[in-house]
Amino acid sequence: MMEPTTARAAGHASVDDCRVIPLRTVEDPRGSLTIVEGELDIPFPIERVYHLHGVPAGGRRGGHAHRHLEQILIAVAGAFDVLLDDGVARRRVRLDDPRTGLHISPGVWRELESFTDGAVCVVLASMPYADDDYERDYEEFLNWRSR
Ligand code: TYD
Repeated sequence: MMEPTTARAAGHASVDDCRVIPLRTVEDPRGSLTIVEGELDIPFPIERVYHLHGVPAGGRRGGHAHRHLEQILIAVAGAFDVLLDDGVARRRVRLDDPRTGLHISPGVWRELESFTDGAVCVVLASMPYADDDYERDYEEFLNWRSR
């Protein structure tokens, strides 16, 4: 059988696999409470949590893919754009609602852009930190995707 020749080779997730998930939220006159339990509200167990904060207005983060890691990104304050890229298609998602999380499937390149002042991005991750899980070079990412 021939090897797939496009960057969206068999087995790799596409940008359309990355979904905005509504999160369980308890509304209350005192304020809202949003809940995330691993494997219940999101499709993986949570192994690590980190947050991006103090990003200058208009700032950028990301600029890489992960080979195996799955993540949920939540704009718990403010807003930012997530540019998703599977090597063939691109999709831009604006996150501005703490009641939703963006599921980023393994193997999808992401850029975080256009942060508003004071925005906070909470990330729920499926694996401990592993530098060798990163693809930080876009050309190498495309080569890896096409394998
Ligand atoms: P990186 O994932 O590149 O951040 P971003 O995608 O937001 O631009 O990580 C930035 C730095 O922080 C890098 O030197 C690795 C380090 N880091 C850890 O040590 N542990 C972690 O869990 C994460 C996410 C990053």
